[in-house]
Amino acid sequence: SLPVPNVQEMVRQNRLEVPERYIRNEEEMPKSTEMTHLSAEIPIIDLLLLSNGQEEELKKLAMACKEWGFFQAKEVLRNMKEAAAEFFNLLLEEKNKFSMASDDIQGYGHAYVVSEEQKLDWSDTLILLIYPSKFRRHKFWPTTPEKFKEIIEAYTSEVQRVAEELLGSISSIMGLEKDILHSMHRELMQALRVNYYPTCSKPDLVLGISPHSDTSTISILLQEDDIDGLQIRHDEEWVPVRPIPNALVVNIGDVIEIWSDGKYKSIEHRAVTNENKARISFASFLFPHDDVEIEPLDHMIDSSRPSRMYKKVTYGDYLRQSMKRRMQGKAHTQMA
Ligand code: SIN
Ligand code: FE2
Repeated sequence: SLPVPNVQEMVRQNRLEVPERYIRNEEEMPKSTEMTHLSAEIPIIDLLLLSNGQEEELKKLAMACKEWGFFQAKEVLRNMKEAAAEFFNLLLEEKNKFSMASDDIQGYGHAYVVSEEQKLDWSDTLILLIYPSKFRRHKFWPTTPEKFKEIIEAYTSEVQRVAEELLGSISSIMGLEKDILHSMHRELMQALRVNYYPTCSKPDLVLGISPHSDTSTISILLQEDDIDGLQIRHDEEWVPVRPIPNALVVNIGDVIEIWSDGKYKSIEHRAVTNENKARISFASFLFPHDDVEIEPLDHMIDSSRPSRMYKKVTYGDYLRQSMKRRMQGKAHTQMA
């Protein structure tokens, strides 16, 4: 990917500047498209009830996957927010010690900048592959704050556990034995993407993250308690996902959309910025091994439809195809 300015640094040097490369076309601008009143309808799922196999909660989960592709799960959090804030507050040269190489997706920097014309996202990121642990590249793991490594390990192992639990419940509502979806991954992979959205003097003109759907199986997001940013597309409108303290936001990714032959939706979403407060979010992507073949599950195919909606493809090829479509500007899809 092409080198682009560090957004946090740009804002630090001139708080008011918003270069042309960040200013969205009219139809992409945040302002008028937001449907705030719908936020309260985004389903909230209680993981404890879910893991006890409570029928009502499973029904709610099935509805959430079909109607929204998004739900929020209550779960304990760790020191992630504080540690990440400390890392992003370091001087650029300190952060750049962990910067992403041009042929890599791990490290500190910006992902997926492919052309000079492309509109840029108002954010900087830190991306790490966490599971399976043999894929960890420790040279990209920040060493400041001192405990960051342990904190990341604690948080992501918690997320892995939540993900396994959720995959079990999603298996159930898809009519499968509990452990099927998990085992279909061969190994359940997790990548962590920490997003830093600096303040922006003209938040109505830019986007923190462009509209996209996640190429994951599921994604689990931790956001700050008191700062809006995430919006999801629901019935052609953008609906803000208001943070709920101590809740995680979960969304269905493309892999489940494929397995369910389109019944469960991988919903398009984006992030907006704000004028007064920088925002940090933590997105964990759970996904299968590259060589795992994904296709609609037989019993999820609608018998009234002549053919399945998705062809068989290896996950690795799927990723490469989505990346290519994205570069050609045909679709918005990204994992990390
Ligand atoms: C967010 O920051 O709320 C969204 C992040 C993402 O889509 O990865
Ligand atoms: Fe996303």
